[in-house]
Amino acid sequence: MAKLTEIGWEEYSGLSLDEKRPYLARWEGDGMPYHTLFAQQFDRGLLERLCALANRIRFINKSKEGALYLKNVLAHKRAMLYFSQPSSRTFLSHLAACQLLGITTGSVRDAATSSEFKGESKEDSIRTFSSYFDMIIMRSPEQGLAEKMAWELSNSDRPIPILNAGSGKDQHPTQALLDIYTLIRSFETKGGVDGRTVVFCGDLLRGRTVRSLSYLLTNFNDVKQVFIAPQELQVPDDVIAILKKKGVRYEIGEDLKAGVKVADAVYMTRIQDEWDTAKGASAKIDTSRFKFGAEELALLKPDGCLLHPLPRRDEIATCCDHDPRAMYWRQMRNGMWIRAALIASTFGFEKTIMDCGY
Ligand code: CP
Repeated sequence: MAKLTEIGWEEYSGLSLDEKRPYLARWEGDGMPYHTLFAQQFDRGLLERLCALANRIRFINKSKEGALYLKNVLAHKRAMLYFSQPSSRTFLSHLAACQLLGITTGSVRDAATSSEFKGESKEDSIRTFSSYFDMIIMRSPEQGLAEKMAWELSNSDRPIPILNAGSGKDQHPTQALLDIYTLIRSFETKGGVDGRTVVFCGDLLRGRTVRSLSYLLTNFNDVKQVFIAPQELQVPDDVIAILKKKGVRYEIGEDLKAGVKVADAVYMTRIQDEWDTAKGASAKIDTSRFKFGAEELALLKPDGCLLHPLPRRDEIATCCDHDPRAMYWRQMRNGMWIRAALIASTFGFEKTIMDCGY
């Protein structure tokens, strides 16, 4: 079993994501991640196990007795939500997931309110949090920070797990898990996700959810990925390199209506102007053709679905909101179930919940 305690940071950080994966798994050997840092940690078997567990938790929680059972499962654990970037859904759904499982939580939502403001290093901050909690769920504008902190903690006397709740422009693995869970549920009675065409649209360059979801989709058979964006915001080369390596069919274009006509799922994204290096740079890009409204909805297949990680601005018109193919509200709630499944699995309670009598 590969262990983060047996490899230096320099050597570890030079590994490919595939090579890193075994170092981040639970030592108990059930294949589930201990630290969840990037989408490459999940293969199809793990995705299906997590979705089955999310369904199970969802079902158990329907009755009062079941909900009270769940509240006792991890009542002995504490989780820290360390979000140094704004968030509504990811923060609240992780919080709600912890509450479902009886986990006590604490939070820092702005580094300016912690001792980082007084000059404490991130390493010392995380080490401090680990003194009081059994898991850290963290969002940071810094790419790779969650990974570095996972290595630091694994090499400390409090080697608690880290869940990456969004790292820079790089990865948002738990968002991709809820996106996959939503796709699996959407196509459950319609032949499944295999063979589908998924169209990504919007700011594909800086959208971390796109990178994570694009990878998770490669676990399914013959899923074609289509990337529709202004040239300046097109999908980055590293995403395409993975698709090429895995032999995944893909297309790059600028015609949203053409994409919608062939799509089984359309994944809209917001222009991520918070990453602009020059103020107002995004506003100079013509994004008017990359919005989904009534005309696009009319082109979407009857059993197609429309997703968005949210928050949105105007890239999906509100007139789409009540269409049964609009999945973005369900995505949010699915986030709570799949994150509860991930947290329970991280602590080794997958089997306990799957096999309980409820
Ligand atoms: N999708 C997502 O990450 O939303 P929040 O930024 O509100 O957490």
